[in-house]
Amino acid sequence: MIQAPLADQFPAYPHSWYLFCTAREIQRRPVSRSMLGGQFVAFRTASGRLVLMDGRCGHLGSDLGQGCVKGEAIQCPFHHWEYAADGQCSHIPAAADIPPWARQACYPVQERHGCIFFFNRPEALYPLPFFAGVGPDELAASRPFGTVLRCPWYMVGANAFDLQHFRAAHDRRLVGLPAVDCPAPFARRATARFAVAGDSLRDRVTRWAAGDEVEMSITDWCGNLMFATATFRRTTSYGLVATEPLATGGVWVRVIVFVRQSASWLGQLCRDVLRLEVRRWFIKKFLSADAPRLDGAHYNPHGLIEADRDLAEYFQWLAQVSHGTPNQEWRSTGLVPTLQPTAPA
Ligand code: FES
Ligand SMILES: [Fe+2]
Repeated sequence: MIQAPLADQFPAYPHSWYLFCTAREIQRRPVSRSMLGGQFVAFRTASGRLVLMDGRCGHLGSDLGQGCVKGEAIQCPFHHWEYAADGQCSHIPAAADIPPWARQACYPVQERHGCIFFFNRPEALYPLPFFAGVGPDELAASRPFGTVLRCPWYMVGANAFDLQHFRAAHDRRLVGLPAVDCPAPFARRATARFAVAGDSLRDRVTRWAAGDEVEMSITDWCGNLMFATATFRRTTSYGLVATEPLATGGVWVRVIVFVRQSASWLGQLCRDVLRLEVRRWFIKKFLSADAPRLDGAHYNPHGLIEADRDLAEYFQWLAQVSHGTPNQEWRSTGLVPTLQPTAPA
């Protein structure tokens, strides 16, 4: 009997890091977004400090994204109250005293590869993760691409643990069985070897340029950040899948592709840009097998069979960690965590 959690055991929005916007968008002015059941604003102070706080002003609820940065604070467009980088109201033009409740909630925020990420709780449960065994400075990132899928958010990360779909949806043939482990209290990883078996031009080019076998490893953090590494004989591809559950019930899925960064600036300018475009195309094509199948899919815990055991265990794990409860058994795998997260700014 395969046990999987009921749908109501998943939170509307998992405790996690979310891709908010690009760094370029907040270069000149604050940016606010309605997401995850709230409104948030991101801005950079005059000294360059990155801030993300509640986007609705604590006074009468105006949108701080319509305001402007004043030195180390953000000014509300309605009555010009100002909030410092720690959320505390620092100036009210019409009053000498500032009421103690005049403070905006702030969130952990970090810039990486030109993207702004934030944790949707006052304290981050874990530092913004990255690929195992490499530092963020070693890789160059593509611009994100993405799509909106009409399915529950927790179906996206589940894809990596869905053994049946690998046999049916992708032109990769599984070589042996995948291994599943938990390298950190909020992370679950699936690793498997595949033969690049398809007859498409893409697969023929892949076999020629990269090799005919690939080891895919996908590390899932709380169901909304998935770090995928594809190690071929001659090269390694890196892709980050960042999801955002939408109020409409669907999920926005964005993908950032990475390559090893060249040492010289000329290499970074020419070679890396070209390699990123090529990888982006290949990964887009690979993922295009998943999008139409996931779009419109629904979660059915009673429909799982023995062949879905990894999938059911993933859902059990996710129902726990997505509420912010660490997986106590992660150490029992005997693995030393290989991830090298960097501390939040
Ligand atoms: S609503 Fe923001 S200052 Fe009044
Ligand atoms: Fe897939």
